[in-house]
Amino acid sequence: VNNGLARTPPLGWNSWNRFACNISEETILSAAKSLVSTGLKDIGYDYVVIDDCWHADARDPETDAPLSDPVTFPSGIKSLSDQIHSLGLKFGIYSSAGIRTCANRFGSLGYEDIDAKTYASWGVDYLKYDNCWNEGLSGNASVSYKRYEKMAKALNSTGRPIVYAMCNWGEDQSWTWAGELANSWRMSGDIGDLFTGYDPGCPCTSLENCTQFGYHCAVTRILDWAADIAPFSGPGGWGDLDMLEVGNGNMTRDEYITHFSMWALVKSPLMLGNDLANMTKETFEIISNKAIVAINQDPLGIAASRIAQMPLEEGDVQAWVGALADDAKAVAIVNTSPANVTVTLPWDDILPFQLTDYESSIRIFDLWQRDDGQQWGRELAFSSLLSSKTKLRPHETKVYRLETERSRAS
Ligand code: DGJ
Repeated sequence: VNNGLARTPPLGWNSWNRFACNISEETILSAAKSLVSTGLKDIGYDYVVIDDCWHADARDPETDAPLSDPVTFPSGIKSLSDQIHSLGLKFGIYSSAGIRTCANRFGSLGYEDIDAKTYASWGVDYLKYDNCWNEGLSGNASVSYKRYEKMAKALNSTGRPIVYAMCNWGEDQSWTWAGELANSWRMSGDIGDLFTGYDPGCPCTSLENCTQFGYHCAVTRILDWAADIAPFSGPGGWGDLDMLEVGNGNMTRDEYITHFSMWALVKSPLMLGNDLANMTKETFEIISNKAIVAINQDPLGIAASRIAQMPLEEGDVQAWVGALADDAKAVAIVNTSPANVTVTLPWDDILPFQLTDYESSIRIFDLWQRDDGQQWGRELAFSSLLSSKTKLRPHETKVYRLETERSRAS
């Protein structure tokens, strides 16, 4: 939507994936402070978003204004927001386009104006707007549109710039209209801290229906949806693949690198979802890869597309390519299979031009290798890459940045 916000995908942290309803003022402030002390804020992660469960039992009986939980948020949301702003960060909050939130707190349906006004008075910069308890006003594009449009209008009329993040899972084809209303929209059920297959205990019979029972979606499953839906993204409105699970413990390093890289390439908002105050060096190294974040924040805002899939016994190898500013390109090769694989990359499809004309002017960087100065992005010899096969470990992704003479000149 053209409200001047989110010209590149929002970057930040959200409480849900790691803390769910176990939140308090301290949880949120500690995450905010960690963004600053670790340097993640300087890389661009600047939204701190409280998800579900900040609410009191009921609204203010006189004004209907939303109230926060007096036990877990004793100083109130305005004070928390002020402290977050004084750290140089932005502040986000959560509600649902329904009568209750998913965790059964009061929702905003019918209270859009008072809620938007109150959020603005609290200094809210970002609203995540969920889809629980929607009174059946769902599935049909026009009723869903109207329900979400109410909050879009209410936010606009506050006069405060507030990023509008629709959490509209379960809506039919909503990515075709969501960009008219919101700065981002969800495209799947909730992510889980799992790479492939089903959530343990999921009573599903196929990947197609595995999200219908409130169980979590695997990274590779969301990525399949993104291949179809991400082309609807662009400056001001982004397909949201859901918040990151990097650092939450259930995936391997290679799996988290795949998750983080691909969320970046398809221009999803990158909302960290781990415990920032207690993360390992390995987690920090993944989420602080500036070269990958730069692809996500590229000013063109074009989501990468999946250009090839080579099926294997279990899983496949996928090639993704995305245009970047100044004729540069992002290329990812994803091994979703649990085996080591050796592949010949489809360079003819990846490159925008006849190789022979330009080969000598192309430079290529492997963004998951360090250069001599220990920065992510080691330059490779393009000619040797062309003539050799590429090896991938189980569930590994390699990301390359290709630059031409023009991208270097700028
Ligand atoms: C469903 C959303 O998809 C999640 O991201 C989270 O916000 C929960 N609801 C909170 O109840």
